[in-house]
Amino acid sequence: MKKVMVVATLSALCVTTLFSFDAKVLKERSDNGYKSDAKLEYKIPDDKNIPNNQFGDLVKYGKELIVHTSKYIGPEVEDSKMRYAGNNLNCQSCHLDAGTKSYSSSYIGIFAAFPQYGARGDSIGTLADRINGCMQRSMNGKSLPLDSKEIKAMQAYMYWLSQGYPVAGVDKLEGRSLYPIDRKMIKTQAANPVKGGVVYEQQCASCHGANGEGIKNEGRANGYMYPPLWGEDTYNKGAGMYRLLKAADFIKSNMPLGATKENPILTDEEAYNVAAFINMDSHFRPDKADRIKDFPSEEVKAPDVYRPTIETKENQVGPFGKFIK
Ligand code: HEC
Ligand code: HEC
Repeated sequence: MKKVMVVATLSALCVTTLFSFDAKVLKERSDNGYKSDAKLEYKIPDDKNIPNNQFGDLVKYGKELIVHTSKYIGPEVEDSKMRYAGNNLNCQSCHLDAGTKSYSSSYIGIFAAFPQYGARGDSIGTLADRINGCMQRSMNGKSLPLDSKEIKAMQAYMYWLSQGYPVAGVDKLEGRSLYPIDRKMIKTQAANPVKGGVVYEQQCASCHGANGEGIKNEGRANGYMYPPLWGEDTYNKGAGMYRLLKAADFIKSNMPLGATKENPILTDEEAYNVAAFINMDSHFRPDKADRIKDFPSEEVKAPDVYRPTIETKENQVGPFGKFIK
């Protein structure tokens, strides 16, 4: 009996080491050859310094597109050729305060971080590629043409928000990404969507609605006051927010609205559970075509990528220990 167990454990170990996320490999592939210990300060440039010229106009249009995405490229805009986004979210629905709020996947410094290795495609992508990643997934739509005024404007705005940061040196900028919830807890504990439902009712439903439907603003192509978290009109299953750990990291430092990394409202466990609740199977969400082609390289596949035909339920709700080397 004991022997059988040892063999079973050993073979389980072999399988899992073969298919688990390896931070070292990701680090090697992400290496851009630049080393610096310079301490960078998180700074939000003042809009009043945007110059009064063609460049400044493009920066301002870029900001407008991030804040009121649905008004310019949403599914309800008059000109059907401009309907690039498939839902009525704005970029700002997740990249809060026009992409300047720290720990909400901020755009501060971002222009200096591309081109960059991305594990999702196992390839090097540009900033425009990354924007189009969110267009296809978070916005459930299609890519903006690379020669469009819109993608140039978004990049001009991100360039504006990156002034003064060293090219390639911005990875160390605190506040640029999301802040991780307890990575020890997630290794041993599964998220509990039932408990998450209780958190949802108490802390989220007042804005996002009892059925995650959000509250729309008046008028056509005018977006949401409180964006939907599940249903037809929100991010699809290829989006980062559909991944449990990304959603939990975002929620912990940003939700309920007003929460920050320094002054969170939920505990790590509550954020983990409510993230599992919003993304659970019984909550309809659009799928993303060809999602099975994401993360072609197993060694750098994020542990919380969940596709029912490829991964297991444990990749959806944890515990994640056995997927992390
Ligand atoms: C539903 C939420 C959501 C929406 C809406 C959304 N994004 Fe994102 N975006 C994310 C998440 C989550 C990430 C990944 C953050 C991470 O990995 O740390 C991300 C990452 C990015 C990045 C790369 C950030 C980095 O530091 O490398 C860019 C650029 C970006 N988004 C642009 C956009 C643009 C432009 C729009 C609107 C057209 C948009 N996003 C809409 C959730 C969203
Ligand atoms: C006081 C209202 C309010 C409460 C309460 C609130 N949110 Fe939000 N939430 C917002 C707003 C507003 C945005 C979009 C920000 C923007 O557009 O500027 C947002 C955005 C989000 C997003 C990203 C956008 C999307 O549609 O997916 C998620 C995820 C989210 N909230 C989850 C939660 C969760 C989970 C809770 C409860 C723990 C919660 N929120 C509580 C107002 C609220």
